[in-house]
Amino acid sequence: MEKFVINGGTPLKGTVQISGAKNAAVALVAATILCDETCVLENVPEISDITKCLTILREMGAEVELIDKNTIKFNTKGITNPEVPYELARTMRASCYFLGTLLGRFHDAFVPMPGGCDLGDRPIDQHLKAFKALGASDEIVNGANHVYADELIGNQIYFDFVTVGATMNAIFASVKAKGLTIIENAAKEPHIVDLANFLNSMGADIRGAGTDVIKIRGVDYLHGVTYATIPDQIEAGTYMVAAAATKGDVVIANVIPKHLESITAKLRKCGVNVVENDESVHVWVDGPLMTTSIKTMPHPGFPTDMQPQFSTFLTLAEGTSIVTDDIFDNRFRYVAELRRMGADISVDGKVAVIQGVGRLTGAPVSATDLRAGAAMIIAGLAAEGTTEIDNIHYIERGYEKIDEKLRGLGADIKRVYIPEATSMKLSG
Ligand code: EPZ
Repeated sequence: MEKFVINGGTPLKGTVQISGAKNAAVALVAATILCDETCVLENVPEISDITKCLTILREMGAEVELIDKNTIKFNTKGITNPEVPYELARTMRASCYFLGTLLGRFHDAFVPMPGGCDLGDRPIDQHLKAFKALGASDEIVNGANHVYADELIGNQIYFDFVTVGATMNAIFASVKAKGLTIIENAAKEPHIVDLANFLNSMGADIRGAGTDVIKIRGVDYLHGVTYATIPDQIEAGTYMVAAAATKGDVVIANVIPKHLESITAKLRKCGVNVVENDESVHVWVDGPLMTTSIKTMPHPGFPTDMQPQFSTFLTLAEGTSIVTDDIFDNRFRYVAELRRMGADISVDGKVAVIQGVGRLTGAPVSATDLRAGAAMIIAGLAAEGTTEIDNIHYIERGYEKIDEKLRGLGADIKRVYIPEATSMKLSG
């Protein structure tokens, strides 16, 4: 088992390069199943969720070749059986994208019920609603979703609420269907646009991605392409907040500033300086941190994936801040860990009330999920003293080389290996 050990209190300084977007890349990798030729993905983040997706494709018979650590060549013609290996897929939310892509290509798909970060109940009823609208049926068989259709016919799909995953799956299942599909109340995240651009560059006909109405005319063939994943807006936002929490001075490079607008606006409200350049943002603090209120929303609102990190930052602002996150049932599990470091936060359902404290102090804490783990790192960097974070496998799911990148900004963070027996004793 590994943990991060951080000696906090050092302002972050320097430039950090942002990697490709996790939530785009997992969709693009799944989408290679729909491609009839060889395709190459560039700027793919080197993270464990991607490694899992590549292993799933290989085990299903696809050729997957690492050209370098962030460039991957795919040829999925070797896949003949639309069944995803159980153990690998059940731990990851993105595995549900294999439902849409296998259904879109084979009109048949067996995928284990998806896993992923424990943020409360995460059903896939809207995904299934989209598949049914196109003519598919579904059943649960041995812990897997089985979705199948004689043929897929374009139709209107109206989501009951905005859902990223179901929007992705509706695109996957309709891109080779017969006729026109109209998705209403679609998610507008940058990774939805990235997927549409990737598929259109192969010859698909998808219009309106990034708005709440997406129109897809089915095509028969998707040719090979080389395509670069967009930069990760959440990784970028995490480093922006880390710079602010440590009162540092950091340039976050290789970003699309427009994707960061809601984060930039909130940091500025808290008295943080943010200057947007063409492909970077410059973040620094030269005065007191003020409070603000946050309500997470689908894009272009404030992203739920930034809520734990921003809430951690707000524990250091003088005064009271209110954070509302009703995208998921329970995205405040990290609060109990923050309290060990001196944070003053009370949570009632989907609302957290944060009373700013002058300082946090280091402590042994656990990462409870991916973004909560990033929040623990931010807390450790800002705290006085030493913080030890365990369960860092959660963090490795979505942040490429986070300890290396932070050391490049002057942070005192080490990755420490602890033998199982010791870790058992530690956990008591
Ligand atoms: C994607 O999850 C992201 N994961 C999440 O990022 C992100 O938090 C979320 O979108 C919102 O932006 C990936 O892209 C792999 P949703 P997803 O469908 O698709 C409910 C991270 O940290 N819902 O938009 O699962 C659902 O339970 C991860 O990178 C249904 O009820 O999110 C949730 O409460 C965490 N039925 C809400 O809608 C459905 O059929 C939003 O879910 C689908 C969703």
